[in-house]
Formats: sequence, C-alpha cells, structure tokens
Amino acid sequence: MALVPYTGSSVPGLSRLHGSTARLRFAGRDLSLQQDWEKSGVAAVVWDAAVVLCMYLELGKVELEGKRVIELGAGTGLAGIVAVLLGAHVTITDREPALELLSANVRTNLPQHLHESVVVSELTWGERLDRYPSGGFHLVLGADIVYLEDTFPALLRTLGHLSSDSTVVLLACRIRYERDTDFLSMLRQQFSVEEVYYEEQRDIHVYKACKLPPHRDL
Ligand SMILES: C[S@@+](CC[C@H](N)C(=O)[O-])C[C@H]1O[C@@H](n2cnc3c(N)ncnc32)[C@H](O)[C@@H]1O
Repeated sequence: MALVPYTGSSVPGLSRLHGSTARLRFAGRDLSLQQDWEKSGVAAVVWDAAVVLCMYLELGKVELEGKRVIELGAGTGLAGIVAVLLGAHVTITDREPALELLSANVRTNLPQHLHESVVVSELTWGERLDRYPSGGFHLVLGADIVYLEDTFPALLRTLGHLSSDSTVVLLACRIRYERDTDFLSMLRQQFSVEEVYYEEQRDIHVYKACKLPPHRDL
C-alpha cells in the first residue's frame, strides 16, 4: 500500500501541512516536529487529530504517570511524545517507511532523561502482532488512523490484540466519510465506545473504547 494515498494538491486546505516544521506547545514544552509531506505523505505531517488528542491528554482525564502506552500510526509522533512528557512509558509505532522521521522527532523533542521511557518500532496493523504483548498496555492511542477502509479489519485485530479488559483505547478522529462511522460500528462489536471530547474548531472527536467481555452462549 502506498504511503502517500493522495497528493497534497488534490486535497483542499492541505498546504499548511507542507511546511517543514510544526511548532506546538504541550506539557509545558515547546515542541518542534519535522514534516516532510513530499517524501512521506500522510505519515510525515502533524494532523489536527494528533493536536486534539494531546489537548485531551493534557486535561488529565486519563492517568499517564508510569503507565504502559502504545501509539498506532504515530506519523510524526506528537501524541506519543506528549504522553512520554506526561509520565508514561510509550511504544510509538508506525509502518516502516515512517520510522526514520518519527525517530528523529522523538529524539529531538524529548529531553535525554526521558529517552529510556520511549521505544519507536514498526507495527503494521494486523501483522506480526505476537511481537507486542497481548493485552500488555494500559492505554492505546491513535490519531487520525481511521481513514483507509481496507485497513479496518487489521486495525480492529490490532486493537483487540493490544487490549486487555482494563485497557483504554483513545481514538481521535475527523469523521470525513460514511466509512469512518462504519468503522465505529465495527469497533462497537468488540468494544464499548463513547465520545469523551469534541473540539469544534478542528472538528475532531475523541472516542474512548474499552474491550467488552467475551460473548457467552446461553
Ligand atoms: C493521517 S496519518 C496520522 C498520523 C498521526 N497519527 C497524526 O495524527 O499526526 C495516518 C497514519 O497511519 C499510518 N498507517 C496507515 N496505514 C497503516 C497500517 N496498515 N499500519 C500501520 N500504520 C498505518 C500512516 O503511516 C500514518 O502515519
């Protein structure tokens, strides 16, 4: 699957994503994330969903201190970086072609003493999941990762694998197409799903999902 599913010129409003640096302030720090749309497309720019997910994390409604967190489809890594700054141990993942820029952003935006709280690694949804502990994370993060219908079954398998019955999954989404709500319906077959935050200006929803107990035949 191509890393760049569409070109910038075909999507109105994407020009601001073409800048080489995104500057943001979270967790009391100025962050500077390198972007490279021309080389790596969607994985190499900071999406609004990541910004809104960080706004939600900063509200302190989910415990991060000392928690094991994994971010899926991290792109430039903003949400994972902010989770580390807020005290979590974070595995930040994406597909292999995204990892070079992702690693550079993680290195440059975290102070040295937090480098041991983060791992950057390859995770293509649905593939070789046994490399990650089943149910091994307190929190799973995903920002703008619900957009490719072909990936929905693999993404659901991945969420199912990583989650125990006490894991919280936070997905920050812009609902662009009917297929995006179809994904939420698919998710509801295995998880309880509630909207916990909506940022109107950027039109981003944050959903919290928790694994349902397995069905019992009566
Ligand atoms: C729209 S970008 C969002 C990036 C980042 N989370 C953000 O919000 O700024 C979607 C991300 O999902 C990743 N992705 C797409 N398909 C994937 C797959 N099958 N497995 C893992 N990651 C995937 C892309 O590489 C990209 O980083």
